[in-house]
Amino acid sequence: MDFNRLYGRVLTTVFIFNGIAEVFAFLALKGSTVQLICPYKHTVAGTLDWSFKSRTATSPTIYTVGKTVVSFLPDELKQRLTVTGNHIIGEYHLNISNIRESDQGTYECLTGGKIDQQALNVIVGPTNISIENETSDNKIPGKEGQDMTIKCTAVGGQPQPDIKLVILGFTYTGDQSAQHTFKPQRTNDGSAITCQAGYTEINFYPLITEAYIHLMLKPIITPFVSDTLSTEETKSFEVSCLSTGSRPAASMHWLLGQKRIDVTSNSSSQSNKEPSTQTYSVTSNLKYRVDRSYNGQKLICRASNVVDYMETLLTLNVKCKSN
Ligand SMILES: *[C@@H]1O[C@H](CO)[C@@H](O)[C@H](O)[C@H]1NC(C)=O
Ligand SMILES: *[C@@H]1O[C@H](CO)[C@@H](O)[C@H](O)[C@H]1NC(C)=O
Ligand SMILES: *[C@@H]1O[C@H](CO)[C@@H](O)[C@H](O)[C@H]1NC(C)=O
Ligand SMILES: *[C@@H]1O[C@H](CO)[C@@H](O)[C@H](O)[C@H]1NC(C)=O
Repeated sequence: MDFNRLYGRVLTTVFIFNGIAEVFAFLALKGSTVQLICPYKHTVAGTLDWSFKSRTATSPTIYTVGKTVVSFLPDELKQRLTVTGNHIIGEYHLNISNIRESDQGTYECLTGGKIDQQALNVIVGPTNISIENETSDNKIPGKEGQDMTIKCTAVGGQPQPDIKLVILGFTYTGDQSAQHTFKPQRTNDGSAITCQAGYTEINFYPLITEAYIHLMLKPIITPFVSDTLSTEETKSFEVSCLSTGSRPAASMHWLLGQKRIDVTSNSSSQSNKEPSTQTYSVTSNLKYRVDRSYNGQKLICRASNVVDYMETLLTLNVKCKSN
């Protein structure tokens, strides 16, 4: 990864040499190289010098005089400082490599009585990112038509990283975490969710994760071809009912008459997983015999799973024994 250009300029309030002021602050990623540019050029007299004051220090420390890094600085710091730019035209930029948290503070360049101050804020990137309740095969479980919350959280990061969570083409943002609650529809099943953690100001998003919406789906009953079932009281009738598109497989029930007597035990059902959609089709066949008292009453087929249920019904037309 190229850390060299990972910094940007943002307006912030910082503590400077003599109090508080609004100055431009650089955001720099830990480990990157920053180039501080003095808006003034060195002209004939004197030198262009850089000094630094950390937030806790009481006075600034001289870092460079002209093109020389001062000798009394600690070795690890001296090694990371370079005066760059074209000195012939008066440019004396201060490069700081392998940025550390201790480099955070205010930098001042001074030449010919002119002073410029700029602040440097050091960013430590987040270490991990995760979507809550994501399964090991990158699925985010939900139920069709029921509130679903997708929440993405980053671990670590200083300052708090910006989170960019993209769900169904919409972006939701937050600090350290972002979330969105919605009622997913059947068509949202399998949609990819992405989440990034990083820093908007420097357009740096080192962490990204992707997962897929995985819904439990309600059963859909195919209506009966005719809404009346004609039978004879001496004979058993046979009727079948089909439910499709459910996940998990629907359980099928048969309910008879005003009292909704459960006659499911006289039925048998068969379930099939559709490979293309990973949903279930379930067919239930009922074999049953009713007497005249059920004439005009309803026979209900009910398909249900953990998400929802659906019913469809038939009106019984029971004929007397024909002879
Ligand atoms: C100074 O920093 C700039 C910006 O990061 C970089 O392009 C350049 O190579 C650096 N020069 C030296 C000598 O470190
Ligand atoms: C990141 O988080 C995920 C989910 O919480 C975890 O499984 C994984 O081990 C973590 N990775 C690291 C490098 O910590
Ligand atoms: C994750 O699962 C737990 C346990 O089922 C639940 O309490 C929590 O609300 C879920 N989180 C999200 C974001 O849905
Ligand atoms: C229900 O099934 C049982 C066992 O197959 C059968 O004996 C009985 O007659 C059936 N009941 C009706 C009302 O059809």
